[in-house]
Amino acid sequence: MSRPVDALFRPFTLNGLTLPNRIVMAPMTRWQSPEGVPGADVAAYYRRRAANDCGLIITEGTTVDHPVASYSVRVPQFHGEALPAWRRVVEEVHEAGGRIMPQLWHVGVSRHPSQQYPNKHLPSLSPSGLFRPDKPAVAPPASREEIRNVTDAFVSAAHAARELGFDGIAIHGAHGYLFDQFFWSSINRRDDEYGGDLIGRTRFAVETVRAIRREVGSDFPLILRISQWKEQDYTARLAHTPEELGALLTLLAGAGVDAFDCSQRRYWEPEFAGSSLNLAGWAKRLTGKPSMTVGSVGLAKALVTRGDQALGERAEVANIDALIERLEADEFDLVAVGRALIADPEWARKVRERRFDELRPYTAAALETLF
Ligand SMILES: Cc1cc2nc3c(=O)[nH]c(=O)nc-3n(C[C@H](O)[C@H](O)[C@H](O)COP(=O)(O)O)c2cc1C
Repeated sequence: MSRPVDALFRPFTLNGLTLPNRIVMAPMTRWQSPEGVPGADVAAYYRRRAANDCGLIITEGTTVDHPVASYSVRVPQFHGEALPAWRRVVEEVHEAGGRIMPQLWHVGVSRHPSQQYPNKHLPSLSPSGLFRPDKPAVAPPASREEIRNVTDAFVSAAHAARELGFDGIAIHGAHGYLFDQFFWSSINRRDDEYGGDLIGRTRFAVETVRAIRREVGSDFPLILRISQWKEQDYTARLAHTPEELGALLTLLAGAGVDAFDCSQRRYWEPEFAGSSLNLAGWAKRLTGKPSMTVGSVGLAKALVTRGDQALGERAEVANIDALIERLEADEFDLVAVGRALIADPEWARKVRERRFDELRPYTAAALETLF
């Protein structure tokens, strides 16, 4: 590491919320909330990262109040009995001087039959019942009424987040889950107003963001996560050109998104030929909104497999000079850190103090002790 790290430790204000620095804990599912209720261990887990200079924590995906929103009984819910438990998480993070937003989630058709999840007898909800473009449908297409029910569930969750004292909300619109299933033309085969062209495929997310805005007001920060890649297909693309990306993001920005969390597996990869800008770089340029990058920050190895298999991989600590160079150039505003922050809760503090030699690699063993 030769560069100064100051750019990472400049405050940033997002829709009235001042973050002490640019480091954000990326949302990471932990399967540690039996019956969907986060316990004291979950609060302690986030508190440790907050106490060690992480500027903003985005929680693991937490599911909205809809019967088929979740794919595991161990994924935390964001309704009912789980809400008082979340209040404790918020309080602990705030006591430690941190900021925190829940990642609100509906998995759509990504409910794997091998998992235990609530309401397994009910069909999954999705645009056309397809999990992958090359496989037969596994559920009926969502009706308009069901789509509106999900929007209402996100609105209730956003309302609860504000009531509980969260600093904003993050919405999972990426990785092949529900909203992304609507964006993705290969599995959204609808011929009503929620399918077809880009405007149709974006309508569900746009209506949901607008409805949330009406509920929580204009001054509550809202971050939307998007990605080209899908858990179903790492090579999938929503936008082949900057124009296509701009069309999608402009609709969402107009609905009330404050910042785009642009999920890549390797932050240094250019999004389109002819420019070194990454996805977050393009999102910022095309919308004028703040953006956040993510993907193998501080790690010498990218995520190559999904789910549990990704947990088992070892990744050595990597230099972040190139990241800082991009941040200094204002390509993006925030930097989300995932696995490096699982492996080392003190990642941000050690970087701030330039104790690079003390950073821990990401290993299966580190995970077992730190989860
Ligand atoms: C164990 C694990 C769980 C994850 N769960 C989520 C999730 O709930 N929501 C989400 O948007 N991304 C999730 N991700 C993706 C991360 O937020 C992040 O984008 C990804 O790990 C790349 O960042 P990294 O290379 O710094 O780990 C998960 C990743 C891992 C490793």
